Amino acid sequence: MNIQTISTTPFKRQKPGTSGLRKKVSIFKQPHYLENFVQSIVDSLENFKGKTIVIGGDGRYYNQIAIQTILKMAAANGFGQALVGQKGRLSTPAVSAIIRKYHAFGGIILSASHNPGGPDGDFGIKYNISNGGPAPEKITEAIYASSQKINEYHIIETADVDLEQLGETVVGDMKVEIIDPVADYAALMEQLFDFESIKALFQSGFTMRFDAMHAITGPYATLILEEKLGAPQGTVMNGIPLIDFGGGHPDPNLVSAHDLVDIMFGDNAPQFGAASDGDGDRNMILGQRFFVTPSDSLAILAANATLIPAYKDGLAGIARSMPTSEAADHVADALDIDYYETPTGWKFFGHLLDAGKVTLCGEESFGTGSNHLREKDGLWAVLFWLNILAARQQSVETIVREHWAKFGRNFYSRHDYEGVNKEAAELLMENLYSTFSDLPGKQFGSRIVEYCDDFSYIDPVDHSISQNQGMRIGFQDGSRIIYRLSGTGTEGATLRVYLEYYEEDIAKHHLDAQDALADLIKLADEIAGIKKYTGYDKPSVIT
Ligand code: G1P
Ligand code: ZN
Repeated sequence: MNIQTISTTPFKRQKPGTSGLRKKVSIFKQPHYLENFVQSIVDSLENFKGKTIVIGGDGRYYNQIAIQTILKMAAANGFGQALVGQKGRLSTPAVSAIIRKYHAFGGIILSASHNPGGPDGDFGIKYNISNGGPAPEKITEAIYASSQKINEYHIIETADVDLEQLGETVVGDMKVEIIDPVADYAALMEQLFDFESIKALFQSGFTMRFDAMHAITGPYATLILEEKLGAPQGTVMNGIPLIDFGGGHPDPNLVSAHDLVDIMFGDNAPQFGAASDGDGDRNMILGQRFFVTPSDSLAILAANATLIPAYKDGLAGIARSMPTSEAADHVADALDIDYYETPTGWKFFGHLLDAGKVTLCGEESFGTGSNHLREKDGLWAVLFWLNILAARQQSVETIVREHWAKFGRNFYSRHDYEGVNKEAAELLMENLYSTFSDLPGKQFGSRIVEYCDDFSYIDPVDHSISQNQGMRIGFQDGSRIIYRLSGTGTEGATLRVYLEYYEEDIAKHHLDAQDALADLIKLADEIAGIKKYTGYDKPSVIT
């Protein structure tokens, strides 16, 4: 095996964010940039020699090139086997499922999730550990530390692998198996859900559209929805993965998934609509002319979980990220199970799932998942909804309205200010924090501040502490305003403002969320000076 040791020097800021290292393709293309980071991952691992690594990505531009490099480096560093998705493709949940199924040592995911792709777009790389989940902060910090002192990396000189052909090959002394990207994942879904009753639902004429947004879930959704569950051809739209996602933002929200939104809010809308993101871990759920907020979706899945074969015996607990609405907490209370509030990012759910403390997890950012793997899972959420729809034989809207009637409604919205000047955004957060000593007890209109803090989290399993996870202001009536800077953007800063208020009165449940939250929205600006610092007079994205 022709192992080369190449001298290199560190790149500043190779720091994994909320979900791995994400940068512009042009940055990843610099000589040694990817190699440095891959070697830094390897240098932070122990006892991996001879073991198996899973490699795949969301199919975006640079995916295949990066995989060839990673394979040569994995072989040079002594991995025994690599499982690679055909064409270099694996959805993020599929990587998690495959790591778990084959007891792999870990996995490398090439994705920038919902960020745009193509030569001028974004690229990303993320390491997942043997439980199938994103590396916890202890490891991402070790990776960053390695990247800041790296002076060499190892790679073998050999021909590229043919990623098109299923089957076994070798790279140096490492076995490489090119696997079907969909089969293992689809088999897992069949174990979890009642495919027969979903099939019967489609046979009865139920109509659905799934928007794969030209990203990774196209082949997954086509096989599962159309071929296995018998949904009519054409149910899956934008189903062919493209290296630039057709020029769009593969982000399943009301703005980016406009093809689907137009259909679902138009005449003759299908009964159910759903979309997933670049790497397949997010989901958006729509009914006929009806949007289900991700926070409500988590609560509804929890409240209906016993209708699903995999969860028929009930849930151990529920976890949600701190900015996610408290809707799921009300369900947990009613079910008399524990709930946990974690910082933003899926990596915080891993310990809770591994310890059996929770069964379902969710984030307001269109992420939902369960103990079936250790990532959020877009298609899983869609199948969960389909299974509920098949069991309850009601519309999406009726299910949501009945849920509110029973548990109360958490009016909720996230306002994003994208591409803000970084210094200005940091100043806003600093100044906001400096007001926190005087804020408790202060009255704004009818609302009195109960608490405010910069959220920090003590992991209940390993007791590790994560600080600076977002500014929270909680009011005595249960309303909340939360301010956070995004950890996944690649340009400037993105300020996220999360607004929530709880309404028990069913007579008010029909209100539009932006109307119901109007006074909190004003207050959020009044307290933090959003307009003043960002220069924006309105958010760039409202969800
Ligand atoms: C965003 C979401 C967060 C999610 C992450 C990865 O991170 O807000 O919930 O886990 O993407 O998909 P952010 O940009 O807010 O740091
Ligand atoms: Zn994603």
